[in-house]
Amino acid sequence: KKKEFKQAEVNIGMVGHVDHGKTTLTKALTGIWTDTHSEELRRGITIKIGFADAEIRKCPSCGRHSNSPVCPYCGAETDFERRVSFIDAPGHEALMTTMLAGASLMDGAVLVIAANEGVMPQTREHLMALQIVGNRNIVIALNKIELVDKEKVIERYHEIKEFVKGTVAENAPIIPISALHGANVDVLLAAIEEFIPTPKHDLKKPPKMLVLRSFDVNKPGTKPEKLVGGVIGGSIIQGKLKVGDEIEIRPGVPYEDHGRIKYEPITTEITSLQAGGKFVDEAYPGGLVGVGTKLDPYLTKGDLMAGNVVGKPGKLPPVWDELRLEVHLLERVVGTEEELKVEPIKRREVLLLNVGTARTMGLVTGLGRDEVELKLQIPICAEVGDRVAISRQVGSRWRLIGYGFIRE
Ligand code: GTP
Ligand code: MG
Ligand code: MG
Repeated sequence: KKKEFKQAEVNIGMVGHVDHGKTTLTKALTGIWTDTHSEELRRGITIKIGFADAEIRKCPSCGRHSNSPVCPYCGAETDFERRVSFIDAPGHEALMTTMLAGASLMDGAVLVIAANEGVMPQTREHLMALQIVGNRNIVIALNKIELVDKEKVIERYHEIKEFVKGTVAENAPIIPISALHGANVDVLLAAIEEFIPTPKHDLKKPPKMLVLRSFDVNKPGTKPEKLVGGVIGGSIIQGKLKVGDEIEIRPGVPYEDHGRIKYEPITTEITSLQAGGKFVDEAYPGGLVGVGTKLDPYLTKGDLMAGNVVGKPGKLPPVWDELRLEVHLLERVVGTEEELKVEPIKRREVLLLNVGTARTMGLVTGLGRDEVELKLQIPICAEVGDRVAISRQVGSRWRLIGYGFIRE
């Protein structure tokens, strides 16, 4: 068999309460530590979405799963099953909208719950987020089991069973693990293989990539003739992209018009493509894709392009300055200890909306029985019927209070 590079084919989220071990588990499954930014290292928490790819392999001899070509359990040569991309989300309550942007790219998720703490506010809020973006492929990792005794593990198991009743995770397997010691990760990988299938991607559909990051990759002081164009990073959710393709980016680039900020779609050409950190000629759905363009890097530096949608010129969904949503409110604010009741939406209030990787503020201008109309601070590119996560400021934090579908 020829050894060729395969791009990751499925995005698997790592979600759950702060410090429950998502980044440690990502490292145990991939060998990659995704907390690399200086502030993440200093504070010991995940702040930005991290991507880490790995192969999932299975040993034909002992049947156990790992990411290694040689079985760590029996030494036999293992078989390649698939390449997956883990999306490591932050668990801190202040970073919920970052988690939501990541959630829009997840095909499935591992909900990490630490055995010493059990179900906590962001365990609930992240599960709600998965439910809101329509994610039903969930595996639960009961982590840090070496910190508690066997009775506690069994107690947590029942607590979690009760917690997931009536949710999208009702039938999710609960796998006891220790991410720190790599204990039982083979069983977790087997559960991922069973419960988080690779979605069917129709590569003939027009491409659509949701932008999560963007960069200026030029080192300071680079000579003008050596400058390379802006790079945008995200995940392709439909179709494929090729080097040389002409692309459109929506809503695009801000400009000022009579003192108001407006956005203008922009077209450019793909000059290079990276998937899973490797240069490729074509990129497909799955994992983080880096798109080199001819854009002025000034436009892409510091994640300025995050929240945009990339596709073929003229084939992208419309851009909305105002939205009409079919609204579904939650009963309680799940992300807080107190679980306050969710009050009805009020006219003139400002809500935070997440649509795909985009986030924007919406001023409520109209209210119907099951409907709300909003004027958006930053326009979004989205399809009629797309899901919108709705957050409201409660105390000092934005809290998930419901979701909606875009109406015509
Ligand atoms: P955020 O991204 O900030 O939400 O945290 P996280 O869920 O990614 O947790 P992280 O992996 O950063 O781990 C938090 C702390 O828990 C670290 O000190 C880890 O070493 C520790 N930890 C993670 N997994 C285990 C485990 O299985 N056992 C023990 N004892 N500690 C663990
Ligand atoms: Mg983390
Ligand atoms: Mg951490």
